[in-house]
Amino acid sequence: MKFETPAGDNPIDKLTHVGKPLDRIDGPLKTSGQARYAYERHDMAPDAAYGYVLGTTIAKGRIKAIDTSKARAAPGVLAVVTHQNAGKLGKGKMNTARLLAGPEVEHYHQAVAVVVAETFEQARAAAGLIRVDYAEAKGAFDLKAAKGSAEPVKDPPDARAGDFEKAFAAAEVKVDAEYTTPDQAHAMMEPHASVAVWQDDALTLWTSNQMIDWGRGDVAATLGIPKVKVRIVSPFIGGGFGGKLFVRADALMAALGAKAAGRAVKVALSRPMMFNNTTHRPATIQRIRIGAGKDGRITAIGHETWSGDLPGGGPETAAEQTKLLYAGENRMTATRLAVLDLPEGNAMRAPGEAPGLMALEVAIDEMAEKLGLDPVEFRIRNDTQVDPHKPERPFSQRQLVECLRQGADRFGWSKRGKPGARREGRWLVGMGVAAAFRNNLTMKSGARMRLQPDGMLVVETDMTDIGTGSYTIIAQTAAEVMGVPMKSVIVRLGDSQFPVSAGSGGQWGANSSTAGVYAAGMKLRGVVAQKLGLDPEAAEFADGRVKVGNASHALRDAAKDGDLVVEDFIEFGDLAKKYQQSTFGGHFVEVAVDAWTAEVRVRRMLAVCAAGRILNPKSARSQVIGAMVMGTGAALMEDLVVDKRRGFFANHDLAGYEVPVHADIPHQEVVFLDEVDPTSSPMKAKGVGELGICGVGAAVANAVYNATGVRIRDYPITLDKLLKDMPAVA
Ligand code: MOS
Repeated sequence: MKFETPAGDNPIDKLTHVGKPLDRIDGPLKTSGQARYAYERHDMAPDAAYGYVLGTTIAKGRIKAIDTSKARAAPGVLAVVTHQNAGKLGKGKMNTARLLAGPEVEHYHQAVAVVVAETFEQARAAAGLIRVDYAEAKGAFDLKAAKGSAEPVKDPPDARAGDFEKAFAAAEVKVDAEYTTPDQAHAMMEPHASVAVWQDDALTLWTSNQMIDWGRGDVAATLGIPKVKVRIVSPFIGGGFGGKLFVRADALMAALGAKAAGRAVKVALSRPMMFNNTTHRPATIQRIRIGAGKDGRITAIGHETWSGDLPGGGPETAAEQTKLLYAGENRMTATRLAVLDLPEGNAMRAPGEAPGLMALEVAIDEMAEKLGLDPVEFRIRNDTQVDPHKPERPFSQRQLVECLRQGADRFGWSKRGKPGARREGRWLVGMGVAAAFRNNLTMKSGARMRLQPDGMLVVETDMTDIGTGSYTIIAQTAAEVMGVPMKSVIVRLGDSQFPVSAGSGGQWGANSSTAGVYAAGMKLRGVVAQKLGLDPEAAEFADGRVKVGNASHALRDAAKDGDLVVEDFIEFGDLAKKYQQSTFGGHFVEVAVDAWTAEVRVRRMLAVCAAGRILNPKSARSQVIGAMVMGTGAALMEDLVVDKRRGFFANHDLAGYEVPVHADIPHQEVVFLDEVDPTSSPMKAKGVGELGICGVGAAVANAVYNATGVRIRDYPITLDKLLKDMPAVA
């Protein structure tokens, strides 16, 4: 099905199942421990041996020699694979650095060997006996030092409108500030893990991966075998946040280990390996300049961002939202990339916007203060309903103003005082606001649908559920299109034997994958109607029946001679070019800061979101509250600390890399505004999973400023940074 014109009325609009806050259908499997994650596939590979991955201990240089003889002779060892005996390996499209080092070393903890043994302990002990001699080379590890050598990138290109420099110079009121965000880790709960089984020349990998088809392509390219010889299975994923968009060393080393050992092999990356072996969100330096008139209207807005990555890598696109979020005639954005020899930088939840808004939305707060305007009012005054760089191009839907107004009302924003003015015993209390913005992306997505003689409807697609609720919204969509109860739908996900879907990334998953299921469902309706001798256009599908006028059949009757199977996909035309499709929100945060220690406690959070039709308010809310927690971590805690001499992240475990936990976030509320977006898909939905984190960090930072009068522009806002400027208290 091609989606080229805005959706009219369609079967989804009945909203019998879609739009309902249903419990997730995979919930009982997960809460009872029956959902098997990658490392638990004993059912598929009962005799699997254990692989242990050894990482390099230098960040850059060459391997001069590897001595594996002691490891090979160690108890229980079945195989040791290094670059010397791995055979010729290619590189996946999605991997900047190779997944197995040698002889060149590209980053710290790049895999250098996998030891396969009968037990995990034997594999780990033997890995400790491998001797690697390195020739260490000098690397670049410090973004600040590398900033001067940073270069423009092709994607995204710099953007300009009007004459920014002239308008900024002439502006009545100006903000010119630099913000820094640190490297961050996805720190998902389930580590990267894979079980590999070879049958002749075909490989099956049970792994934890967000994008099945990308993974399949990259594994095939790396091993130099045809894609059809690789099967990737990933039905349950314990979080990804972008860290599992691409296959990592666990998958490749399990495959190589299994081949060498002639056995099934399971590999999980240990937690201390994950931080330097896999990808992370790169640190940024951002300069924001805003010029405004005394009337509170932005006349000039400029956003420059610097980040680093390995040679051949990409930038953190932190300036992109600034093209679209506020009005203003004179504008510029610029993205600069430096070469750094740290582990690979890549996408983490809302790549670009998440750190970008941590800077922009604080600069906006600073400007509002300079203008003597309420920051909610200042944002509303500078709203735009069109793409400011292409005024002929409207937003498909844009309810930022409503999000902010409603949020302010619900949150009690009018009680917010001047910075440092509100004191409750030892606590300085403040409120902060920030806009949330994230683009809505769409991706081609396919599904297979099978109606069985028993009336069950089976949906198969390689879409993944990374904890987001994909199983449930796909079942809701299938039930809606075919007019059957939820209990008649079986959903199977995350297997490369199923049609290729959008996968989970860039908050495109929910809308795109359900639209693919919708396409398959509409095709199945046609086949069913034909089987029953009914006019497909006139047929009504409801309550497990198909009706035209007085003629009424049980849906299952269409399959009485055998399964009816269809496949289709949704493919998107250029509506996203005609209309700027974005999602919006307002984040409101109240914090209390200890007047003596500068400890920050978040007290209340509210998000008001406008993100198209909400397919399942319960799972969508869950996405947003999780993202709000993550944004709080970004504001107050998360920081991969770079060892600038040796080039690695020093705090590579969950004791040193701090993330918020339940007790850190006492009260969260999420409101979704009514919205349907007919330009986004037949589902009229948009993404919400990344929107939730966008702006949160800035709202926390602005609340800390309102509480204390201290402005910290260097994240995370830890108490050592706050304390030196805290007001004297009695
Ligand atoms: Mo997302 S960072 O594209 O998983």
